[in-house]
Amino acid sequence: MTSDELTDIEIKLLMEGVFQVYGHDFRDYSEASLRRRLTNWLSGSGFATLSLAQSHLLRDRALFDTLLRGITVNVSEMFRDPAFFKAIREQVVPYLKTYPFIKIWHAGCASGEEAYSMAILLLEEGLRGRFRIYATDINEEVIRKAHEGIYPLQEMQNFTRNYQHAGGTGSFSDYYTARYDHAILTPMLRENIVFAAHSLAVDADFGEMNLILCRNVMIYFKKQLKERVLGLFDSSLSPGGFLCLGTKESLDHRHISNHFEEIKPRTQIYRKRYAKK
Ligand SMILES: C[S@@+](CC[C@H](N)C(=O)[O-])C[C@H]1O[C@@H](n2cnc3c(N)ncnc32)[C@H](O)[C@@H]1O
Repeated sequence: MTSDELTDIEIKLLMEGVFQVYGHDFRDYSEASLRRRLTNWLSGSGFATLSLAQSHLLRDRALFDTLLRGITVNVSEMFRDPAFFKAIREQVVPYLKTYPFIKIWHAGCASGEEAYSMAILLLEEGLRGRFRIYATDINEEVIRKAHEGIYPLQEMQNFTRNYQHAGGTGSFSDYYTARYDHAILTPMLRENIVFAAHSLAVDADFGEMNLILCRNVMIYFKKQLKERVLGLFDSSLSPGGFLCLGTKESLDHRHISNHFEEIKPRTQIYRKRYAKK
């Protein structure tokens, strides 16, 4: 047996234990990325193998939290993939404006950058008071960060550039206050955002959403977990609602033809079909 094969067995056993003890289900995450991330965690942990770490991880919540941080990839940016936000502004917002109230779910929101970007976009489109954003993530630590809305000042240059390329109509610096080496987002942006812990692998759907964003999350999932998550989104979206994936993600043929259609090729923005009468 090769050392990689042995590691895969250790990962399977550990993930089963983690699910039983903590309720976090990583059993259907893609093996390659899980192996990479756990090997990284291991190298800084002081344990020689995952088997040796296992009994400690299952008994020590604080140690497990370090593993959770190691497994989840929490990188994000404001107005990440500006062309995507431009497409939302130009091709989705006109539909949203026809609804009396708009419900949006950011699934896998990391530290909140995407949700705040959406709030800015909707405010600039004159929708203040007409939307609520539910922003969820499996990692409670990043949810706390998201709620604070404080980011390193050095990132503002990149965020500003993204904002401009995404068709921002104001001045990005109006949305934050610089304090030492941090940028504090203006509290008004948080008014309509609810941040909460939620796992796409074990928790239930959200009702009656008009727009769901789940970008750069399912790339880490195996086929069966992707199927579960797409089922959650399908049942959470109102007919005519929009589902947005990341630039490297797409719906497979079955989902597109049965339930969704892409609003324009390669936008990764899909619209849920109305039921046939
Ligand atoms: C790379 S970030 C994407 C952030 C943002 N959507 C973006 O595109 O910039 C992926 C996020 O998915 C979250 N995640 C991973 N597994 C999850 C699960 N089962 N349920 C909910 N969120 C999950 C991670 O904690 C992480 O914050």
